[in-house]
Amino acid sequence: MKLTTLCLCILLFVSCNTNKKKKNETVARPIPTKTTTHPGKKLMKVYCYQCHDATTPEKNRLGPPMIAIKRHYITTKTTKAQFIADMQNWIKNPTEDNAKMHAAVARFGVMSKMVYPESVIKKIADYMYDNALDAPEWFEAHYQKNMKSNKHK
Ligand code: HEC
Repeated sequence: MKLTTLCLCILLFVSCNTNKKKKNETVARPIPTKTTTHPGKKLMKVYCYQCHDATTPEKNRLGPPMIAIKRHYITTKTTKAQFIADMQNWIKNPTEDNAKMHAAVARFGVMSKMVYPESVIKKIADYMYDNALDAPEWFEAHYQKNMKSNKHK
């Protein structure tokens, strides 16, 4: 009886001691390397890239790459709130009259109307406004050429 009590005491003492030791140890934590990704990035890929993915070969693409849309819609004066509102308007009413990208309409036909929750479009537009989007290799040259020919008109 006495021996077991003694044993218990020793055990307690030892375990208390080790606990104390652990508390004072500094634990090396791994430095977080993953930055959180914007939710709009994934939503854009899921909902829009079927037709607007810049990496799809040109002959297979069903619509203009997202970066072309961004350049068309955002000028130096466009605020983020304005851009988000423009995107909401377009998604609710994709018609030839509302279209700003006439060359794209001529080439692909007007975007078909699909129903997306406003919250999804808001996140996508927010992501597009703040981040650089993928550009296909041909894009810069094509864009510069179009800008020049537009000026001559
Ligand atoms: C089924 C194919 C398809 C999907 C999916 C699609 N689009 Fe489009 N979109 C098109 C086509 C084709 C055009 C080019 C013709 C036009 O401008 O209407 C276009 C044009 C646009 C334009 C430019 C409109 C203009 O002419 O002013 C915007 C903005 C746009 N899409 C946003 C989106 C967003 C945001 C998504 C995802 C939530 C999306 N689209 C999903 C086919 C699609």
